[in-house]
Amino acid sequence: MKLAVYPGSFDPLTNGHIDIIERGTHLFDRIIVAILVNVEKSPLFSMQERVEIVKDVFKNRPTVEVDTFDGLLVDYVTRRKADVIVRGLRALSDFESEFQMALMNRRLGPNIETVFMMPAEQYTYISSRMIKEVFSLGGQVRGLVPDVVERRLKEKQLMKGNVNVS
Ligand code: PNS
Repeated sequence: MKLAVYPGSFDPLTNGHIDIIERGTHLFDRIIVAILVNVEKSPLFSMQERVEIVKDVFKNRPTVEVDTFDGLLVDYVTRRKADVIVRGLRALSDFESEFQMALMNRRLGPNIETVFMMPAEQYTYISSRMIKEVFSLGGQVRGLVPDVVERRLKEKQLMKGNVNVS
């Protein structure tokens, strides 16, 4: 049984993330989308909302699980008895920080391997941050995020009158 963990903030889930998860399901028996409980950042979507979004998108995919974690990623991966960390690489600019993270994780957990996957070309420029910024400034995000994210962004905009992208 090959179990992989795909960690991230997912604030919000984008079609780039979905593409990576889909590709991961072809390589691994099970993939856990592990959402970081990050106390330092102030996310737009609450942890519960982020979990609900991933669950909604993958509701018919029993090999995709959603979970949350805090603390060290390698501790979480070990606790879940997984052996692979999946990370998406969009462009060369991602490489340096991802390389550092992968090597630090290897030092902390020598038996855990990081696997980098490339999303489809049409998603290589998307980031959660850019989605929030474009949406908050009135730009169109359809096709870049799942419908449920677009709907929830609109709901937030209606509730608050604006969307804070910080
Ligand atoms: O979606 P993101 O924000 O790029 O994900 C970053 C994430 C969650 C993978 C990374 O911040 C992380 O693993 N945090 C947990 C703390 C940790 O293990 N740090 C040491 C490895 S650099």
